[in-house]
Amino acid sequence: MKKKLLSMMLAAAMMTGLLAGCGSTPASAPADEPAAETAVEDVKEAEAPAADGNVQVGIVLPTKDEPRWLQDQAQFEAILGDAGFTNQVLFSQGSSATEKTNVETLISQGIDVLVICAQDGAAAAAAVEAAKDAGVTVIAYDRLITGTEAVDYYVTFDSFAVGVAQGQYLIDNAPEGSGIPLYLYAGAATDNNAFIFFEGAWSVLQPKIADGTFVIANSSEAVALQDKLELTRDEEAKIIGQITTDWDFNVAKSKAEANLTAAGAESKGDVVVLGPNDGTARSIADVFAVDKDITSYIITGQDCEIASVQYIIDGIQSMTVFKDTRTLAADSVEMAVSILNGETPATDTTYNNEKIDVPAKQTDIVVVTKDNVKEALIDSGYYEASEFTGLE
Ligand code: BGC
Repeated sequence: MKKKLLSMMLAAAMMTGLLAGCGSTPASAPADEPAAETAVEDVKEAEAPAADGNVQVGIVLPTKDEPRWLQDQAQFEAILGDAGFTNQVLFSQGSSATEKTNVETLISQGIDVLVICAQDGAAAAAAVEAAKDAGVTVIAYDRLITGTEAVDYYVTFDSFAVGVAQGQYLIDNAPEGSGIPLYLYAGAATDNNAFIFFEGAWSVLQPKIADGTFVIANSSEAVALQDKLELTRDEEAKIIGQITTDWDFNVAKSKAEANLTAAGAESKGDVVVLGPNDGTARSIADVFAVDKDITSYIITGQDCEIASVQYIIDGIQSMTVFKDTRTLAADSVEMAVSILNGETPATDTTYNNEKIDVPAKQTDIVVVTKDNVKEALIDSGYYEASEFTGLE
């Protein structure tokens, strides 16, 4: 934690240094920490961006309609704003065309670094290629952009670990016995993460399906592949095509309703549900909660959206995964600072995007249940206790 704070201060100081080089030191600049001074000195040696009032870092996020991305927006604006970095956050509102226009707008504003969370990982290739052509360094944020060389870096959570955590939670908390109905749901097939989350979950769930503990209740494609631990991308795509929520609450709700309408008595009773993220998990949970033949359900999520944290406190959703957007935004800003400073950003792994191995910085995740909500989210300062009711 200390190390993280120091490096954030360092990043802030480095950005201050960049702006000092441009002759526009922000009033909020932290001036007196020794670490900061050293960093500023280092930056003064470096080539600073032009003092032309341009936006230095452009950020493009998928949609304002999911609280997850508002969390990221808030972190970016806080960190970049405090450090006096010129920046702009634009939302694509579920449209790859809007996303491309957003990128073009930011290019015309003179950005040096583009941080982009793609609406559609493949379609975003054209947008980032335009950015590269304009000399912009591209950081894929949270979702990898596929099929192009025009991605310089990737900042992400450990998405495989997210899927493993969801699957393992179902295994650890399932009722005793075997033949437990398992309902599978996934994210949008246009999001590379949906594949990684599913792959992680499948890696732990498949052995429990193979040994009869769980019985897949809502996917003939998954049943057809249930003896295979490692799936190809095409095989995963077949399953995801059937169980996708498109990351959309309404799609999730209708799919869950259709699944429960079609389910026979053997698929009711005490069940477990792989909910891919918080928004869709809430919709699915609402449907399972009112089915009179479902006697109990366990459902996963991810993102620690406030509404889901409340659902967890109230016992309507079972778990979520804390993806600390403070860390992800700070990592992206540190990367941007290094890039603007002419340095190679620190990375710790690579992700293949079907074209190249993209150097990546990966962040760990934390499982959140009723038992550790307070410690993980309140004590860490991520949320205020007053945002929830019934918190012990
Ligand atoms: C993100 C999740 C998010 C989902 C839907 C994924 O790419 O990693 O945190 O819930 O998109 O927006």
